[in-house]
Amino acid sequence: TKNRSIAIDGPAGAGKSTIAKEIAAKLDMIYVDTGAMYRAMAIYFLSLGLDGKDEAGICAACGGADVSVIYENGAQQLIVNGENVTPRLREEVVGQMASNCAVYGPVRSKLVELQRELADRTPVIMDGRDIGSVVLPNAGLKVYLTASVEERARRRYKELIEKGETCDIIEVEKTIADRDYQDMHRENSPLCQAEDAVLVDSSNMTAAQVVDTILDLYRKAV
Ligand code: C5P
Repeated sequence: TKNRSIAIDGPAGAGKSTIAKEIAAKLDMIYVDTGAMYRAMAIYFLSLGLDGKDEAGICAACGGADVSVIYENGAQQLIVNGENVTPRLREEVVGQMASNCAVYGPVRSKLVELQRELADRTPVIMDGRDIGSVVLPNAGLKVYLTASVEERARRRYKELIEKGETCDIIEVEKTIADRDYQDMHRENSPLCQAEDAVLVDSSNMTAAQVVDTILDLYRKAV
């Protein structure tokens, strides 16, 4: 039976977290950012000096990370072995390492367990790559949110420039395309549109239009 949770999956830079945060506020739901959990694990592996391709090393180290989530004024915070690593989650090296270590089964099963625990307590809006397909198969609404790689690169580029960083839009696009390829072609829980997920292509939509579209779908679904 379907529950009242919302699953949002899609490629890097599709705007999942921006949209999910707004919907969470409107519906007074908890927003669970699962990418942040893979990023938190990545910070732990980086602190051990592990290489992202070192499967044996990463799988052996996995059990040593105690990952938990707390909410401060509604904002998700990631705690790893007692340390709040939230300020470092968005670093580029962390995103890359997250995509590398998300390939391995032990890393995924550990985090999927945490994700399901959070969703067991209360309806949530959760975003990631495998939420509709694996983590919350009974979500009342599943959305696959995407946009063209060019548009996603333009948005990420604008964000970086606004933060005062220097970058090259071609490089940004290549990084996004590489990450998508890795996420879609891995053996364990690859990024895919769940059978019963609704496709929303935001290439030509504003954030407000995407939010309204999903709220509308939710009202009809649950
Ligand atoms: O969404 P975000 O960019 O924060 O995710 C970082 C990486 O974590 C993704 O590229 C993906 O490899 C991995 N991830 C995943 N499953 C999820 C969420 C994120 O494999 N549910």
